Amino acid sequence: MDYHVLGLILAFLLGDANVLAGYPIWWSLALGQQYTSLGSQPILCGSIPGLVPKQLRFCRNYIEIMPSVAEGVKLGIQECQHQFRGRRWNCTTIDDSLAIFGPVLDKATRESAFVHAIASAGVAFAVTRSCAEGTSTICGCDSHHKGPPGEGWKWGGCSEDADFGVLVSREFADARENRPDARSAMNRHNNEAGRTTILDHMHLKCKCHGLSGSCEVKTCWWAQPDFRAIGDYLKDKYDSASEMVVEKHRESRGWVETLRAKYALFKPPTERDLVYYENSPNFCEPNPETGSFGTRDRMCNVTSHGIDGCDLLCCGRGHNTRTEKRKEKCHCIFHWCCYVSCQECIRVYDVHTCK
Ligand SMILES: *[C@@H]1O[C@H](CO)[C@@H](O)[C@H](O)[C@H]1NC(C)=O
Ligand SMILES: *[C@@H]1O[C@H](CO)[C@@H](O)[C@H](O)[C@H]1NC(C)=O
Repeated sequence: MDYHVLGLILAFLLGDANVLAGYPIWWSLALGQQYTSLGSQPILCGSIPGLVPKQLRFCRNYIEIMPSVAEGVKLGIQECQHQFRGRRWNCTTIDDSLAIFGPVLDKATRESAFVHAIASAGVAFAVTRSCAEGTSTICGCDSHHKGPPGEGWKWGGCSEDADFGVLVSREFADARENRPDARSAMNRHNNEAGRTTILDHMHLKCKCHGLSGSCEVKTCWWAQPDFRAIGDYLKDKYDSASEMVVEKHRESRGWVETLRAKYALFKPPTERDLVYYENSPNFCEPNPETGSFGTRDRMCNVTSHGIDGCDLLCCGRGHNTRTEKRKEKCHCIFHWCCYVSCQECIRVYDVHTCK
């Protein structure tokens, strides 16, 4: 028997879910089977599935930060679902599996690249935000990157310490990516690309103080962007992701796989680009092996020529049309002062779904 298969069977018997998916099992924290951010249950590090020893140590040492780590992955997944909402693969998660994306992300595809980037960005973002909100004793505001104040404003408020969030994300999210194989190299690269996006989008945010909003005194602080801006940026990087090929080298520690750009004519990827080396399935038909759900019954946009349009989304199978009645507020009147009253109207919509 092939050692790889034997390894999988052993891993299964020993209950090590880590080996069974090509992506982190601990992402299941985000769906809150073990944990809810507002709930009262404490996080038990030992009960988080798929942690490697380094992550378990991190969890025990910095337990205060773990709710933000979970929150960050959740934020990343929500943003992924927003960015991919009209596409054939729409970032669906599966509630009753620890491998929350099913087999889809087992392959080294663009989709895998995007999810790794947005999840590691999410962790950096959420940790940074919660530190600035003062929820942890081991981190807080950034006092290093201030510099002299500018024309007409002074430093004030709490500058968000993105370096700290990035450090946490790197330590925790990359802890299992130290294998000498190509997938680990790809995950490390895309995780870092996600975090770099946060640092690149830091900006000054200012507030005016003074009588009735006059800007007599203006204070400014470093702030992270809206997470939507991170999602938009990484979605562009998904569209322009670089295809790579795997190269094997013999080193003193054994065989090591690295990635090289497939097409020498194109610019090689920078640290801000996403990389992948396996092609995606077309996601048209359901396939339990690839994890594709197919696009049957998905709503499509009949006037769009893009990927959310009925032609492309339905993969040429055509679509059904039905009408749907929805109650909406209408004839709203503003009453002095100050409330609005509305009537309820029934509007009829055409809904198109894939055959
Ligand atoms: C995403 O795709 C799944 C599977 O095809 C579907 O059940 C779900 O409704 C889709 N979600 C959205 C927001 O379109
Ligand atoms: C459908 O696509 C058209 C053209 O791209 C766009 O203007 C419209 O907002 C879309 N409708 C919905 C419901 O997304």
